Formats: sequence, structure tokens, C-alpha cells
Amino acid sequence: MSTNATTSTQTSDERMTDPNWWRQAAVYQIYPRSFYDSNGDGLGDIRGITEKVPYLQSLGIDAVWLSPFYPSALADGGYDVDDYRNVDPKLGTLADFDEMASALHSAGIKLIADIVPNHSSNRHEWFQEALASPKGSAARARYIFRDGKGPDGSQPPSDWESVFGGSAWQQVEDGQWYLHLFAPEQPDFNWDNREVRDDFLKTLRFWSDRGVDGFRVDVAHALTKDLSEPLASKDELGIEGQLLDGSHPFWDRDEVHGVFAEWRDVFNEYTPPRTAVAEAWVHASRRARYASPSGLGQAFNFDLLQADFDADQFRDIITKNLEEADASGASSTWVFSNHDVVRHATRYGLPKGGGAKGLGQDGKAWLMTNGTEPKLDVELGLRRARAATLLMLALPGSAYIYQGEELGLHEVADIADEDRQDPTFFRNAGVEKGRDGCRVPLPWSTEGGSFGFGSGTAHLPQPAWFARYAVAAQEQDEQSTLNLYRQALELRHQRQSAEELQWIDEGNPEVLHFVRPGGWHSVTNFGSTPVDLPAGTVLVTSAPLEDGKLGADSTAWIA
Ligand code: GLC
Repeated sequence: MSTNATTSTQTSDERMTDPNWWRQAAVYQIYPRSFYDSNGDGLGDIRGITEKVPYLQSLGIDAVWLSPFYPSALADGGYDVDDYRNVDPKLGTLADFDEMASALHSAGIKLIADIVPNHSSNRHEWFQEALASPKGSAARARYIFRDGKGPDGSQPPSDWESVFGGSAWQQVEDGQWYLHLFAPEQPDFNWDNREVRDDFLKTLRFWSDRGVDGFRVDVAHALTKDLSEPLASKDELGIEGQLLDGSHPFWDRDEVHGVFAEWRDVFNEYTPPRTAVAEAWVHASRRARYASPSGLGQAFNFDLLQADFDADQFRDIITKNLEEADASGASSTWVFSNHDVVRHATRYGLPKGGGAKGLGQDGKAWLMTNGTEPKLDVELGLRRARAATLLMLALPGSAYIYQGEELGLHEVADIADEDRQDPTFFRNAGVEKGRDGCRVPLPWSTEGGSFGFGSGTAHLPQPAWFARYAVAAQEQDEQSTLNLYRQALELRHQRQSAEELQWIDEGNPEVLHFVRPGGWHSVTNFGSTPVDLPAGTVLVTSAPLEDGKLGADSTAWIA
């Protein structure tokens, strides 16, 4: 395993120029429209992030990843991009962006931008040009247009379904159809087109020149496609074999790595090289290619995020992913929550196997809530979430934290239909509740119309119980989840060393105990009976010890 990862002995300046800064970084994901609203229009904005740099610094994170902040009609929370080289005027200006980047950098925090290469929005100037241009034109060749089926072409070219539900094809005025793997407002680019490729290289340089340190690559596994006729029917798609050998027409084709090799050349034009992490919902055996140093360099593993709170599952996943990281040359990535999934405090409070489970054929349908109202144990969920996070923050590799999880926020389940924004909700006749519940604006103070999110009305309504979780409330409380994250992140910096861990067998299958070089122990009790802790100094615990023992569903770090 690599031993040259960022370590505790580095100064913040050294970390900022270290080409390996990302290997064990704690990355905080900001969903900009719901983070902090500086101008009272109900939407979070870029200046709001700049104003909260002291908060980010006090958390002790190494980098922020911003979900899309580009001009967008928000048909899919900003993942429908109108213009890749600009800031949404509702969120600010390029000058605001530059100011934010320099404020973050001065605070020793790196900046990762989300890039959305699989599709643009239907308002993108290229798509508008495609609509205004005839069949077979160069403008249409930047996207994926096809004639329809049937004598008059009135049937879509195939029966494929979009990830958000409904057909993956949309008809345009002259009768042709275009492909959209996600919402109809998100037409897929044609990555066989040189112009498309070059334009993205330009975008990568545009943001890198403005101080962006890395990129999170949206749906990295879908870019290149083989749409030669005849198109397979949906029943013939998604079978395990195709996902294992790269022969699926649009998920995880081998050619996609040619695209990322070109991106790597651009990343390496910079000092330190720009970094990237792939969002690629692929078979575990094929993940390493995205994480290769000649490709994007790192890929998300969503294994812990899909697991139950269960010692065996955690042990297997950690072991496998560390082996995988070792083989690919990347460091591992750990994540429990993001803007697409039910928050982990909520998942862990649901009965095992209940709620949001079941892998879809595209590998990701599982993440949509299923509309049922399973019984949620609020306290248990949070207790387990704190234990899981403390375990994660001791693991070798980088840790991704989603805004609000440091407050122990639960999923907001009771959003009225008329307030919902997520296309999954609308495209599934309301059966899927969608992802709005984890995107509700953060509570900063215990009072006020939007709990300190801004002076206006928050764009997604916040429930009354948010007051209890507000930053201001948690700052006063030593035992709060916010203070647990702060303490753990600070200790993590002090203790971080080589990307290695050693398991210690406690003779109890419900206990996971590992030690990092330098004698940093993490012990988690997944069972229901308190257990003895190993000898040493207790650094931090996710729940108070019980007569000196580690209680159920808790983690302790020992030196
Ligand atoms: C990714 C994003 C998700 C978005 C989708 C389409 O999975 O994380 O939020 O809806 O891509 O861009």
C-alpha cells in the first residue's frame, strides 16, 4: 500500500501543494442551493458558501465538493446544465466563484467541482441548435437522435426506460427522437463526436485555471455507447453478463476509459495535478479501471452506503475495498450519505432490509424510497449513524461527508407533493417519493422562518424538528453530533498515517476492531451487550461509555 499519503506531520501549506492531498482527504459535499442563502431569495448561493468558510474550517474537512452550480432550469437539481462554463445567475457570478475559491484555499480547503458529461440540459445552446437543425445535421450529431419505429416512425427507437421512469426517448417536432437516460430535459451527448470531447477538455481547463482542484464525475460509466442497430429490447439489457464484460450498450463500456485518458492528460498539465473521482455504478470487478492513475484516479465505492448496520457486512466491504484500492493504486472512498440517497441516520433507524432497498437493473434504482412508511426509530438511527461515521473516519482512504450529516439530520419524509422538486417523483406518478428529503436547506439557527438558512422562504420547506438539529443548538452541546464530527476530524488529522489497517480479533463477531499504524485503534460494537475496551487512552466515543464499557451500537477510538 502507498505510504506517501498526506500525513499528520504536514503543515496546511504542504498539504495544499502535495500531489497526494486527496488520498486520505475528508471531503464535505455541498448541495449549493440548500447550504446557505446569502441574499434572501430562498436559494443557497455561492456567496453563502464563502460566508460559511469559517464553519467549514471549524469542521476540519480537507476539501469541499460542490454539486452543480451552473446555470440550470433545475429539472434535475442542477444536473441539467445549460452552460458548463458559467455560474447560475441565481447563485452568483464567476467573480463570486473566484472569491469563494480563494477564501477556501486561504482556509486550507481544496475545491472539487461536479462535472456532468453524460448529458446537458435541453436549454444548452447546442441542444437548441440541434432542435433548430435538420435531421442528419452536424448539430444533431452532438446528441443521439434516431428515427422512430413503425410505419410513420411514431414509436420510440427502443423500449428503453429512463433511470427516472418513463421512456428514455423523447420525440421532437420533425418526428425524430433523442435519447435521455435521465429526464427528458437531459439529452445524452454523443461521445463519439470529437467536438463534444474537445468541449469538455475546454471545460476542465476553464475550471482548473480558476483554481478548481478536482472533479467529481457524474454518471462516469454512461458516456460512451454502442447504439448500432438493431437496438436490444429492454428485456435483453442489463443482464449480469453484459455488465461484467462491458457489452451493455450504454453502461460501463470499455471505450469510456479512452475519454478519461484524455482527461488525465489535462489534469497532469497542472501542479499539483487536478484530481477526479468517478461516480460509476458498475460491478465491483470493473471499478478499478475508473480509479486507475491513468484514468480518473479514484472511484466511489457505494458498498457501505448500501449495507445494513452489520459487523459482517462492514468487515467484508472494508477488506475487499482496501484490497481493490491496493490493486488499482488509488485510495479507497467511503461514503454513507449523499444528495441521492436517504440519509444514513434514517436508514439505520429502519428495520433491516426494510425501506429503500433493491438494486435496479441499472444498479441504482434501489436508492429511490419506495413510498411506504416503515417504522423509524429516530434515536437508534442517529446512534448507529454516529458509530458508523466514527468507524469510517478511522479508515484508510478518503471519507465523503454530505452536508447536514454532521448535524445528525434525518431524511425529511413529509414533503407535500406540491413542494416536491425531484423528477423521480414526477416521472413515477408519485409512487417513488424521490430525493428531496435529503436536500432540504440546512438549519443554522433554532429560530426564524428558515432556521437561519436565509432571510427568505427556503425553496424546500423545513420541518419544525429541524430546530433541534440546528448548528447553533449543537455548538452549545458538547455531546452533539456536530462536536463529534469536529473532534473526530481533528484527531484524524493528528493520527493519519500510511494507508493500512490491521484487524484485531475480539473473539466476538459483533465487534469490529482495527488498528492503524502508530497505534490508533477503532472499536465498534454492533451488538446489543456492552463490551470491554482494549487498554489505552480513550480518544473519542460516539456514545458515552457504560461503566467503562462500550455500549451497543457505538464506536470508540483508543490510543
Ligand atoms: C447522478 C447524480 C444525480 C443525478 C444523475 C443524473 O447520479 O448524482 O443526482 O440525478 O446523476 O445527472
